Amino acid sequence: MSELNTLALKILENGKGILAADESTNTMTKRLDGVNVPSTPENRLLFRETLFTASSMAECIGGVILYDETIRQETSKKNKIPELISSLGSYPGIKVDTGAKVLAGSPDEKITEGLDGLRERLKNYYKLGAKFTKWRGVYSISQNYPSKLSIQSNAHALARYSALVQECGMVPIVEPELLMDGEHSANDCYKKTSEVIKKCFEELILHKVDLTGIILKPNMILDGNKFKDKVSNNEVAKLTLDCLKNSVPSEVPGIAFLSGGQSEIQATENLNLINKINNTNFIMSFSYGRALQQSALKFWSKNIQDIEGTQKIFNHRAKMNTLAAQGKWSKELEN
Ligand code: 13P
Repeated sequence: MSELNTLALKILENGKGILAADESTNTMTKRLDGVNVPSTPENRLLFRETLFTASSMAECIGGVILYDETIRQETSKKNKIPELISSLGSYPGIKVDTGAKVLAGSPDEKITEGLDGLRERLKNYYKLGAKFTKWRGVYSISQNYPSKLSIQSNAHALARYSALVQECGMVPIVEPELLMDGEHSANDCYKKTSEVIKKCFEELILHKVDLTGIILKPNMILDGNKFKDKVSNNEVAKLTLDCLKNSVPSEVPGIAFLSGGQSEIQATENLNLINKINNTNFIMSFSYGRALQQSALKFWSKNIQDIEGTQKIFNHRAKMNTLAAQGKWSKELEN
């Protein structure tokens, strides 16, 4: 078993998942504007430190994805953030892409940038304590999209990124996200997600990435948010499992879903249903941003000094998702 495989398994062991707290300063500013809290470095740190010091961290959160600003910050008690996370038995990770930009040749689509100088940046993040990384490729779904160009170029970038990350001794999270925006059906999402994931693995293999030392972070198979005839959650779980079974090589140790705009409960319920029927060897867990933080952020914004109250809400969501990652969640536990 390689070291990277051991690490990937550790991050997702016993129903643990990943807290995606790697919103860029722009995105975090949007989130804070939404709850009327000024987006200052101090406030961004205070909210994140509140989550990172919550009691559920040790039991439920195997890894935290940080943004460049946060990995360099110190807590109010003068602890470095990566050290704080490690001291709780969780692993610090870092988003290393520099964002999705307009794709030349197909201007309605995006290509994720950040490969230039990546090897040097990775070495620096490793020194700061990062053990794993994230890179997100983003794809929209419509009749003509994602185009072959977007599928090919994002897969290539994800593979080059992954190879560099493993060379530096860290586990790459490979995140191809097909957005939920649009009028497409779940069946369209299934077909396009399969195509994207298969191309990603073709490139990962070409770039000699050790598939036992990555974590895949895909979307679930959902209807577009403007599609009328919604499929049931049971159907979402079946389609998602089937799609991944047919497109992900069996060596991959773990799959940690993004929430992608699902409500907190929907993201938990769907993960639970997937685990109830999971007949693969893949660990199926979560790497949620909004679906772990939304209620906590809303509560916190009313009194940003109420650390305990905010942590209580976050602990509940973390616990619910850890149960879902083991297929042990039920609606009654939400009350
Ligand atoms: P969401 O769970 O809010 O989709 O965020 C996960 C993530 O890290 C997106 O890159």
